[in-house]
Amino acid sequence: MAEQRKKKEHYKIAWLPGDGIGIEVLEAAKIVLDKLNLNAEYIHGDIGWEFWCKEADALPQRTLDLLSNVDAAMFGAITSKPVKAAESELIPELQGKGLIYRSPIVRMRQLFDLYICLRPTKAYPGNPINFRDDINLVMFRENTEDLYSGVEFNPVPEVLSEVLSKISKPFSAFKDLQNDEYAISCKINTQKGCERIIRAAYEFARKFGRKKVTIVHKANVVRATDGLFLDIGKEVAKDFPEIQFDEANVDAMTMWLLKNPNNYDVLVAPNLYGDIVSDLCAQMVGGLGFGCSGNIGEKLAVFEPTHGSAPKYTGMYKVNPIATILAAKMMLDWLGETEKGVALEKATADVIKEGKVRTYDMGGSAKTLDVANAIAEKL
Ligand code: NAI
Ligand code: MG
Repeated sequence: MAEQRKKKEHYKIAWLPGDGIGIEVLEAAKIVLDKLNLNAEYIHGDIGWEFWCKEADALPQRTLDLLSNVDAAMFGAITSKPVKAAESELIPELQGKGLIYRSPIVRMRQLFDLYICLRPTKAYPGNPINFRDDINLVMFRENTEDLYSGVEFNPVPEVLSEVLSKISKPFSAFKDLQNDEYAISCKINTQKGCERIIRAAYEFARKFGRKKVTIVHKANVVRATDGLFLDIGKEVAKDFPEIQFDEANVDAMTMWLLKNPNNYDVLVAPNLYGDIVSDLCAQMVGGLGFGCSGNIGEKLAVFEPTHGSAPKYTGMYKVNPIATILAAKMMLDWLGETEKGVALEKATADVIKEGKVRTYDMGGSAKTLDVANAIAEKL
């Protein structure tokens, strides 16, 4: 798997707050990192909706340059809207440019080849909104291809509809349609893409003594792409005989996960299924205020909470910063700062268990930075 870094004397960390509550939760993460005395320079990077509106680029080149020269990055959240060319005409600065909005997160993952999306799902005892107190799963989501490849058509170009009319079966739903009466999003999975994420999941399982890896797919219906994912899973599994091989259809998986979460250990899924199942996993351990994530490649890793910019709470400093603080813990682990990572997780778990400082989602009235300060006090 993309190698964990060796501890260094000093780090350069890109700091990408983004939009809305992204700014607030990153402020909280900074409080705990400062208390840990991590010897780091945090360099601000522009990303998000604001820059799309101002510059027609939600991930400006200067941010890409920054990301090329850091040890890791912390990212808050962005506001993302599916703007079509016609709609961008409504934004005065973008008029006449015919632009289509592309998610800067998906772009960042693809440009820096951050192919692992690592999403731990751990219940911290005493959290009143845990589904159960004994859940400890890890999701490996493929992060660069699949239905998120960005190869999409609406309307469908003539050259493609011609090819499809030659190869598709007579009962195809689009057979007699005009090109602007249907849309196509391509699910593209490569051998390399499947193998490296599945191998990363197995290597993680081996390194951390996990017993089982479950390949999540829908190969019984989506035969080409998910079939490839499953076949490669079976091959990779042969190199890890001590780890139990398991596979499940994604729909059944969501049901079984709720019924028997402890039958699972490490999950590995193509991009879309991983996105969906990991939100379900987050809800099992308290919801989006607890979902943390690492986007990891060979050269860069970007850590973030899985939630978005939550416009309805923006500026109120009332959302839960724990997801972001746990993302900072993941960053510390990845940098090789394991002792600091362990200390941060323990302090966070203690604050959750004590139950004195809780944000609204946990039934409390504490503010975002109160939680960060309570955790920092224990460090
Ligand atoms: P969201 O994740 O921003 O918020 C949905 C709801 O979840 C909130 O209204 C709130 O009730 C709860 N929530 C989220 N974070 C929380 C926290 N830290 N503590 C407590 N409760 C929390 O999703 P929504 O409202 O669907 O999307 C808002 C914007 O964010 C959209 O523009 C969307 O595209 C974008 N988005 C960005 C993501 C990212 O930056 N990684 C991920 C998901 C959505
Ligand atoms: Mg998601």
